[in-house]
Parts: sequence; structure tokens; C-alpha cells
Amino acid sequence: MAENKNDPSQVKDTGHVWDGIRELDNPCPRWWLNSLWLSGLMVIVYFILYPSLPLIEGSTKGILGWTQINEFEEDMAKVEAIRAPFDNQLAAMTVEEILVDPRMLNYAIGSSKVLYGDNCAACHGVGGAPPTGVFYPNLTDDDWLFGGGIYDIKMSIAQGRAGMMPAHKNLLTEEETDQLVQFVIDYSNGEPTEAGLALYNAKGCFACHGADAKGIKAMGSANLTDKIWRFSGTPEGIRHSIIHGVNDPSDPQTHIAVMPGWNEKVAIMMEARAYAIEDGDDPNDIDWDDELDGDEAERLTETDIKKLAVYVHQLGGGQ
Ligand code: HEC
Ligand code: HEC
Repeated sequence: MAENKNDPSQVKDTGHVWDGIRELDNPCPRWWLNSLWLSGLMVIVYFILYPSLPLIEGSTKGILGWTQINEFEEDMAKVEAIRAPFDNQLAAMTVEEILVDPRMLNYAIGSSKVLYGDNCAACHGVGGAPPTGVFYPNLTDDDWLFGGGIYDIKMSIAQGRAGMMPAHKNLLTEEETDQLVQFVIDYSNGEPTEAGLALYNAKGCFACHGADAKGIKAMGSANLTDKIWRFSGTPEGIRHSIIHGVNDPSDPQTHIAVMPGWNEKVAIMMEARAYAIEDGDDPNDIDWDDELDGDEAERLTETDIKKLAVYVHQLGGGQ
């Protein structure tokens, strides 16, 4: 019979009938069949070129030798090739030099963002501003515990920091505590009283917070006269700081405030150079075998420390 696909009565059927509906036996369209063969062919080509059939260990390798890891490593190598000249140059510069070289400064800041995100943001917050109520120093303001100069910032990062204030619960009477809380509030409002200042001095607060209560950066003691609170500026919060102190192991309610160190070797070298300069010696004459044991912890490279120091310095308030 002459077949006309559009006329069901002229099309061969398979002999199957359900509820009066015949199953026709039309051939598949040619374009459809061709695509089927073509996709089959592609499968074979891919099988030959790329890793495909899973074996007990690994898989067939494919003749191109392609792997995801190779592709990743090739891309990374391209990135490294672009970075290497910058990183080499950066490694040879001091942080002070980087700060005045706009091109290197730009590079240092740009490449610190990931470093900062991976290592610092968990405590100091995205962009250097921790969420409120979390007791980590804000790195974007003008208020520095340990100093906002580039040297101090680099030292904070390399060495780590942990301010220490003893718990005063056994050192002060209830009344003295009340008076000191009031004194800290008054001073932050610019109205310190004579009596308050006398008690502040008598109780030894000045030894760490300074005669002007503005803090001493070598100790990381907070400035009590500004309204930027490291922990809390409410009367209860200030009372808590005074009674329980900071990092005082004898008091379970003490504020814990520990900044981990990221490169002990850099910290030791910075300190040795600073001492040499202070003594009028040439820092190039330092015998590093004497200063370093070789087992110093280096969680970030020296170049990374430089990048981060520069990054934090420009976040705001770097001095
Ligand atoms: C585990 C939490 C933690 C991490 C991670 C951390 N810090 Fe800190 N950081 C602190 C604390 C706490 C202090 C304050 C220490 C104190 O109060 O004595 C601090 C202090 C600092 C200071 C000194 C601030 C000042 O006011 O003088 C700088 C700068 C700093 N951190 C930068 C960094 C950088 C950069 C990183 C990442 C490499 C980092 N921190 C990672 C907790 C952390
Ligand atoms: C041994 C040194 C030391 C002594 C003594 C000391 N402090 Fe402190 N104090 C610190 C340090 C260091 C910090 C900041 C800790 C940090 O952030 O790491 C601090 C923090 C504080 C804070 C918290 C400030 C804020 O911004 O939240 C208050 C309030 C305070 N001190 C008041 C006092 C008073 C009042 C006295 C005297 C009774 C006193 N301190 C004695 C070292 C000391």
C-alpha cells in the first residue's frame, strides 16, 4: 500500500490496538535519527579524548591528558605569572616604601582582600568593622590600642597581641568601684573630677592607662577618655571591665582579648632592628643566627604580613 504518513488509514501499524486506538509504525524523522547517530559518535570521540570510563581505581585517561586539576593549575599558573613580578618587588620593599608607591600600594591592597577575608574577617569583621556586640577591635576607626602607625600595625599582625588588665574585684571596695565607674564616664564626657582623678591615680590605673587616661600603646591599654569603647561604655559594662579585668586567668568572667600572632620570625626581626636603631647600631650588622632559632611559627609569609599591614593601615585611621 502506498504510505501517506498524514493519513493514518494508509500507514502500516504494529498490530497493537488498545481501546480501539491503533499503534502506527511510522519511521522516525530523518533529522531526529541523524542527531541520534551524531550524538552517539560524539560520545565515542569524547571517550577517546577525555577521561571517561570509571575503573576500579581511577578511570580511563583519554588521549588529551586533560584533568580538572591540570586545568586549575594552568589557570593558577597564569595568575601567578601576572603576580610574581609584583610579589617579588613587594618582597624587596619595606612597608614604609609601599605606602608611598601608588602602584605597589594598589596591588598590596587589592591582593589583601582575600588574605584578610580568609584570616582576619572571622574576628575583625568584613572590611575591618566587627558586628556590634562582638568584642574585637574595630580596624576602621581612629582608635588604636597598640598604635596605628604602619610599624605598630605590622607588629600587631606579626607578633599577635593580648592586652592584660588584672581583675580588680579584690582590690577595690564597692564604693571605690562605683567612683571609678563614674570617673571613667565623666572623663569620656570631658568632665573628670579631681576626686575621681585622685582615686584613679591612687589605685594604680594611671600606670597602664597613662596619667591622661588616654592609654599607653606599648600595653594596649584602652583610651578611657574617648567615647570609643573596646568592650562597653554602659555603667554595667565599665564596672564589668574594672571588676573582672582583661585576660586575667584568675577570673573566669574576665574579657578574653587575644590576637593570634601570624609570623613570629618577622616580629623578632622587627624588634631586633628597632632596638639596633635605638642603640645607634646598623641593623644590617645584626647576626640573625643569634636572634633566630629557625623554628619560629610562620602562619603567613612575610610578604602577606606586609600586604595586610598596608591594607589595615589604609582601612581608616592609620597614623
Ligand atoms: C581570633 C580572633 C582574631 C583574629 C583571627 C585576628 N585578630 Fe586581630 N585582634 C584580635 C583581638 C582580640 C585584638 C585585640 C587584642 C587586645 O585587646 O589586647 C586584635 C588586635 C588587632 C590589631 C591591633 C588593633 C589596635 O587597636 O591596636 C590589629 C592591627 C589586628 N588585630 C589585625 C588583624 C589582622 C590583619 C588579622 C588577620 C591576619 C587579625 N587581626 C586576625 C583578634 C583577632
Ligand atoms: C596592668 C595594666 C592595667 C591596669 C592596672 C588597669 N588597666 Fe584597665 N585596661 C588595661 C588594658 C590593657 C585594657 C584594654 C584591654 C584590651 O582591649 O586588650 C584595659 C581596659 C580597661 C577598660 C575597658 C575600656 C573599654 O574601652 O571598654 C576600662 C573601663 C578600664 N580598663 C579601666 C581601668 C581602671 C578604672 C583601672 C584602675 C582601677 C584600670 N583599668 C587598671 C590595662 C590596665
